[in-house]
Amino acid sequence: MTPDQRLSEAVALLPEWLRHQHWFTGGRTGPLGVRPVATTLLHDGEPRVWHLLAEVTHDDGADVYQVPLSVHSRRSDRLDHVHLGHTADGHVYDALHDKEATAVLLDHFADDAAPVEGVRFHVRPDVKVPYGESSLVLPGEHHNTSLAYGDSALLKVFRRVHSGLNPDVELHEALSDAGCTLVAPLLGWIDGDWTGDDGGSVTGSLAMLRGYLTTASDGWALATASVRDLYAEGDLHADEVGGDFAAEAYRLGMSTARVHETLAEVLPTGTMAPADLNALADTMTGRLERAVAVVPELERFAAGLRAHYDVLRERRDPVAVQRIHGSYHLGQVLRTVLGWKLVDFEGELMAPVAERRAMHSPVRDAAQMLRSFDYAARHLLITDHPPEDPAHDQLAYRAQEWTQRNSEAFCNGYASASQLDPRDEPELLAAYESDTAVYEVVFEARRRPTWLPIPLAAVERLARPV
Ligand SMILES: Nc1ncnc2c1ncn2[C@@H]1O[C@H](COP(=O)(O)OP(=O)(O)O)[C@@H](O)[C@H]1O
Ligand SMILES: [Mg+2]
Repeated sequence: MTPDQRLSEAVALLPEWLRHQHWFTGGRTGPLGVRPVATTLLHDGEPRVWHLLAEVTHDDGADVYQVPLSVHSRRSDRLDHVHLGHTADGHVYDALHDKEATAVLLDHFADDAAPVEGVRFHVRPDVKVPYGESSLVLPGEHHNTSLAYGDSALLKVFRRVHSGLNPDVELHEALSDAGCTLVAPLLGWIDGDWTGDDGGSVTGSLAMLRGYLTTASDGWALATASVRDLYAEGDLHADEVGGDFAAEAYRLGMSTARVHETLAEVLPTGTMAPADLNALADTMTGRLERAVAVVPELERFAAGLRAHYDVLRERRDPVAVQRIHGSYHLGQVLRTVLGWKLVDFEGELMAPVAERRAMHSPVRDAAQMLRSFDYAARHLLITDHPPEDPAHDQLAYRAQEWTQRNSEAFCNGYASASQLDPRDEPELLAAYESDTAVYEVVFEARRRPTWLPIPLAAVERLARPV
């Protein structure tokens, strides 16, 4: 049996396994079809390590996923949680959780590594790759799989891959080149080729090696800890409890403004003229219409939301646009001893890459962060204090206060470091906030229905005429 024939048995194990991976974003109810579009043997030994890109056909379409596999002749207890199954070739595992396989992956960055067909490893000048460090998969339900090698480098392996340069690599490179210290430095990246739909070759980004930000706390964890403090002190206001977040929100606003400033310096900028604003309103309206089809409860608020988009059509002043973060929320910022750092410039995961690389007003990132404050404030209401809880109404009021206080602090911080105060653009802010809330409604309806009340409440508030 040739190695390729052996791999085809492993491929047969993928549909059932993929369906249960949280990073798998395709439809999960119907059957999944899996067809390899690039296979590369990275290491022929024990374990055998395959780099595999596979087109996965599902209820909602087809996408290409990156699923490196390792094959061991003996079953390993240590890897039981990522065991796909057994083939004539051996036991098949998710290679990214297999330290022997991830060491192979890192070694390929070395100058003297034998080149492999179809997968290219790039290291930026003067970078020390931590060869020999063993890897650990970062915990949490992320959209990709990130491996920490010791405490110096993090390899983010994109799970769903696209043709072209991934905006995460692109923006990290631009910001690293500009000496920006508000993001993790880009150390290297991997790109590769696969067979596209028309049989031609497609090239795209596969992974990104970035510096590991030690001492980092996740923004969501910090913000929700602050909310928890507030809930525990039901009689106190947000500015009176120990875990007040406003000073952090202020500094986060400053860091956000500085990253925007650097992006505008080193990457293209432009203006949206009335025709572009019309197109933006069309895009937002289109998203709303598709969302109403998925979540009919939205229909009641559709006219109110559309009104925010229509205001953009009437605007005559051009809007300054530039590259932005694109999928900004508290889970995309880390607080280190040296202040806030921004991560994950991939943009909105489900949008086509061209859309994710589009220029927008930086107000869009601000609007998304304000939505995230609302999520942080309200999620405990959903999980710990549902409407039947006698404390619900009072805590909902407190949640609203927390959001208000931290939104103001964020905008104050932003304005202190920028010419722009997001609040000076209330119409853009409302349109972008509405568009984000509509996105969230669809996301929660599909993935986390118990959280749906959070964005629905926001949509209701935003749709109310002011
Ligand atoms: N440079 C870094 N150092 C330490 N932790 C990081 C770094 N970059 C990201 N993280 C952590 O890993 C998580 C996932 O990374 P992210 O780039 O957001 O990937 P995903 O696309 O999977 O969300 C982040 O939410 C953050 O907690
Ligand atoms: Mg992320």
